[in-house]
Amino acid sequence: MSEEVSDELEPSELGTQEYWDGAYSVEMKNFEEHGDVGEVWFGEDSALRIVSWLSNSPLVNQEDRIIDLGCGNGMLLVELAREGFSNLVGVDYSEKAIELAKSVARSQNLTISFEVCDLLSTQNKISEQFSVALDKGTYDAISLHPDNPKHKREQYISKVRSLLKPQGLLVITSCNWTEKELISHFCNEFCLLSVIPTPTFRFGGKVGNLITSLILQKKS
Ligand SMILES: C[S@@+](CC[C@H](N)C(=O)[O-])C[C@H]1O[C@@H](n2cnc3c(N)ncnc32)[C@H](O)[C@@H]1O
Repeated sequence: MSEEVSDELEPSELGTQEYWDGAYSVEMKNFEEHGDVGEVWFGEDSALRIVSWLSNSPLVNQEDRIIDLGCGNGMLLVELAREGFSNLVGVDYSEKAIELAKSVARSQNLTISFEVCDLLSTQNKISEQFSVALDKGTYDAISLHPDNPKHKREQYISKVRSLLKPQGLLVITSCNWTEKELISHFCNEFCLLSVIPTPTFRFGGKVGNLITSLILQKKS
């Protein structure tokens, strides 16, 4: 008898809030003691490629309302604020992440709004509509949840849709899903607008990407 093959990722502790609470507690302590802002997921170049795309896109203005979903230490928003973007909100379900993000922004005299918010909770308070939503590693984390990740991914996709204005943009960066997989997950609600080029590697004659970074546009 053939075994059923799942299209989901292997569950991991990175899919749980306990993991992130613990990680950001350590990072908060490091920031207080050494001024270290902590992990920049997928590296600084990845954040700079996103900032550069947003800065150069005719579809995005510096005053546009932008939300970072699962912002962690908030460094992507810090980079955007440094470029002149002025209407920035970061949310994360980990209180320690938000404490860290607020402390980092304050230490750089930047005005960025940060709120604790579980994007999968029906109780969350963010109701305003945004022109741009950023996701760097958050869909990946949600996809690794040990309990019914498919349902959680679908809940997340519909939440992101509800947070965006008509034709709003989702800038999503993933190391767990390929371009093809992301497009197939999001295609009912979003269409592909652009691909941010990321470094490639070659293995056994095939060329692949370690990170995928896409600009998706909400369908009207
Ligand atoms: C891989 S980290 C990326 C952090 C940040 N975006 C970055 O690029 O450095 C994933 C983040 O998603 C957050 N996260 C995961 N599930 C979430 C949820 N349901 N609601 C809000 N934040 C969530 C985690 O707390 C963590 O900060």
